[in-house]
Amino acid sequence: MSESEELHKGLEGVLVAESALSYIDGSVGKLVYRGYAIEDLAQDASYEEVLHLLWHGHLPDSEELDAFTDAITEEAAVDDTVLDALAGLAEADEQPMAALRSGVSMLSAADPDDADPRDLEASLEKGRRIVAKIPTLLAAYDRLRRGEDPIEPRSDLSLAANFLYMLTGEVPDDASAEAMDQALVLHADHGLNASTFTSMVVASTFADMYSSVTAGVGALSGPLHGGANQDVMELFFEIEEQGADPVDYVTTKQEQEDGWRVPGYGHRVYKVKDPRAKILEKRAKELSEASGDTTYYDYAKAIETFFTEEKGLDERGIAPNVDFFSGTVYHQLGIPVDMFTPIFALSRAGGWIGHVLEYQEDNRLIRPRGRYVGPENSDFTPLDER
Ligand SMILES: CC(C)(COP(=O)(O)OP(=O)(O)OC[C@H]1O[C@@H](n2cnc3c(N)ncnc32)[C@H](O)[C@@H]1OP(=O)(O)O)[C@@H](O)C(=O)NCCC(=O)NCCS
Repeated sequence: MSESEELHKGLEGVLVAESALSYIDGSVGKLVYRGYAIEDLAQDASYEEVLHLLWHGHLPDSEELDAFTDAITEEAAVDDTVLDALAGLAEADEQPMAALRSGVSMLSAADPDDADPRDLEASLEKGRRIVAKIPTLLAAYDRLRRGEDPIEPRSDLSLAANFLYMLTGEVPDDASAEAMDQALVLHADHGLNASTFTSMVVASTFADMYSSVTAGVGALSGPLHGGANQDVMELFFEIEEQGADPVDYVTTKQEQEDGWRVPGYGHRVYKVKDPRAKILEKRAKELSEASGDTTYYDYAKAIETFFTEEKGLDERGIAPNVDFFSGTVYHQLGIPVDMFTPIFALSRAGGWIGHVLEYQEDNRLIRPRGRYVGPENSDFTPLDER
């Protein structure tokens, strides 16, 4: 068997493309976007600045940022035909992630531009429209399923604050808007993760941007990827409902359910605690203390402390990932649990679009091979003789 015949299940460790967008050193827990440490960006850059960095290659100056932000804000409204379709999905009790998948797909019908997907400038414009509209779409969906009318986006709020405003009907306070913005910054890009790669596979056929982002949403929805933040919070709710000790609850589940995994723990690339988890942990603590309810933050810390001291998971490099504390942050912002993964998608759409455009600049159709292990030379029997 030649080297190229080697099987790489899950493409683990396989290099498939060059990218200048983000870099992860999983052995030391380092993440950078275009060379900038995630800690610095999370501290001082807005989601809009990060989007500009990912899409245009540099942090914007004030003038560039104003123009970029205006261009996004101008595109934030969602067409009534899409909102009507969302209302139908809400009546059918569709999950928000599935509604988002359908919603992004439907947005293309209202896109004024039918440019060739090979026109990368036009694709970037489409990406901008998608990122601008996802918060509106998600907030509208949450309101529709609660029997409330969607709220139109405002032109004077950041993308993060506008999302919270459209969700709740109230302009968020600074602390909430800042927390939301920081969460978006932290989730914006992460190398060739499963959903980003999915978007790239679709884009490599020169399908349009809506197809790539729709596919990304689908890939992100699974519990091994974006779905874990919801699983973490549901675990905490179960613990609370049963009045259980968090560590006892988790260890009993591990003993009783073969193969059960601690949600928000473990990562294909990180072998130490995810740097995003460290930042979100701090934010979760601040928000929980400010609200006077630290229940879920305390659960998370108790579980983490146990695994660190007992060394059962951490010894093997299975440590908290980005999802372990993000749920507590979103819960403190009053966001329903099943909107957590859609928020991940809201942010990561920026990364998907950046990678799609970067890949298409030097496109090569992504088409791997599978090793055939089926029978050879089967004798065909006509239907009436089988
Ligand atoms: C993220 C994840 C899919 C990465 O998986 P991976 O790189 O494919 O790693 P594997 O599934 O091969 O796991 C390696 C070992 O660690 C164990 N492991 C990994 N994550 C674990 C977790 N969260 N809890 C308990 N054990 C875990 C596996 O059971 C496996 O053990 P084994 O070798 O005895 O079979 C995995 O860690 C996971 O399922 N985590 C929970 C879901 C989650 O938080 N996802 C969000 C990621 S950002």
